[in-house]
Amino acid sequence: MTNFALDRHPIDPASPDVHADNERLRRAGPLAPVVVEGVPAWAAVRYDALEAALTHPDLSRDARHWDPADRAAACPQSTIARMAADTSFLNAEGDRHRRLRAPLARAFTPRRVEALRTRVTEIAAGLVDELAPGPVDLRARYAYPLPRDVILELLGVPVPMRADVHQNLEVAARAGGTPGAVTAARARLHELLGEVLRQRRGTPGEDLITDLIAAQRRGDAELTAEDLLDTVELLLIAGHVTIVNLLTNAVRALLAHPGQLALVRSGESSWSQVVEECLRWDAPTAYLPMRYATRDLEIEGVVVRKGEAVLACYASAGRDPEHYGPRAGRFDLAAPAENHLSFGHGRHFCLGASLARLESEVALRELFETYPHLSLAVPPDRLPPLVSVLGNSVSALPVELG
Ligand code: HEM
Repeated sequence: MTNFALDRHPIDPASPDVHADNERLRRAGPLAPVVVEGVPAWAAVRYDALEAALTHPDLSRDARHWDPADRAAACPQSTIARMAADTSFLNAEGDRHRRLRAPLARAFTPRRVEALRTRVTEIAAGLVDELAPGPVDLRARYAYPLPRDVILELLGVPVPMRADVHQNLEVAARAGGTPGAVTAARARLHELLGEVLRQRRGTPGEDLITDLIAAQRRGDAELTAEDLLDTVELLLIAGHVTIVNLLTNAVRALLAHPGQLALVRSGESSWSQVVEECLRWDAPTAYLPMRYATRDLEIEGVVVRKGEAVLACYASAGRDPEHYGPRAGRFDLAAPAENHLSFGHGRHFCLGASLARLESEVALRELFETYPHLSLAVPPDRLPPLVSVLGNSVSALPVELG
């Protein structure tokens, strides 16, 4: 069992300032000893340590390598325990990972993503038009529904089923729900997605689910029915909340830094630079997921014992002064960092990165061009933090549309 006697830093999901916490953790070493949701782990807080952890051959996403005593310390309802129990290819390694990831990587081509540009613009414009005057919570009214509607469309979930799928997904994915409600929502989600798969088998469409079914039929993807369901569920979750956080953080960053926003308005900086700089400076994912050591190993001089967990800390790596120098803590569009790790790195690199970039650029342009006088309705330091060990954002973004 992991050494609890070590002076461990608690990670508080309700912390009002993730970046201040991360600064303290970075002082504790490249891998900081932490306790998160009651579980001991090493936090890869510095850029080099995170890069090394994400590519290390002996750090596995497969939770069967996790020390059983450490795993038992995790409350079954915690985000950590639920992510460890996920059976999608996010947690697969080796042949299984390659087998499950390959058909999706082939279906998720830049051409398919680019083909979505017009539709994403339409969805964004529709949501912008629906915003009412007065203080508006942009997270709830814009950042949240936009990626939800895009991913449901990309997958090809029929319009009449979307509300039901989305509602159950929300309950299933939410940390802290009652066990009964979560189990019921997961079962209903499986039922609904199973129905979508059945429909698409009979009537193919122009969507990602149809592509995955076709790959399965051609025999170039050894996907079982259960694998397909897991993959679709992973896409629904991975392709939603991350973008909600990115959009929320980007709007907040621009409104809190009018000088930087002026650079975009004058054309000196592009929306694509805004997205990259926001990904680095305020990464949408704070801490998860975990990796488990399959043998004793060393990262940046720190010994990790077989079975111990290593936590990926994207938001911290993005502000590491050892990597980015004195500009690490500054939101600076004149020097955007394209080599950030906020989409991960190596064999589990985010499959939706190009979609996330396209969606965010379109969404931000649409919003700021429609509302040139947009402003925060409360001071930036009064915005409510998001209570989560996964996401890094605020839970509401009240703005005046102007
Ligand atoms: C993996 C971040 C959007 C699908 C990842 C990982 C990160 C990440 C950090 C790596 C996890 C690891 O190392 O174990 C983000 C961020 C996003 C975003 C910050 C938006 C701003 C999306 C979208 C989709 C998506 C839009 C799909 C529609 C995936 C999938 C994986 C993944 C399938 C698993 C890849 C694998 O394990 O091989 N993402 N993601 N993500 N992401 Fe994203």
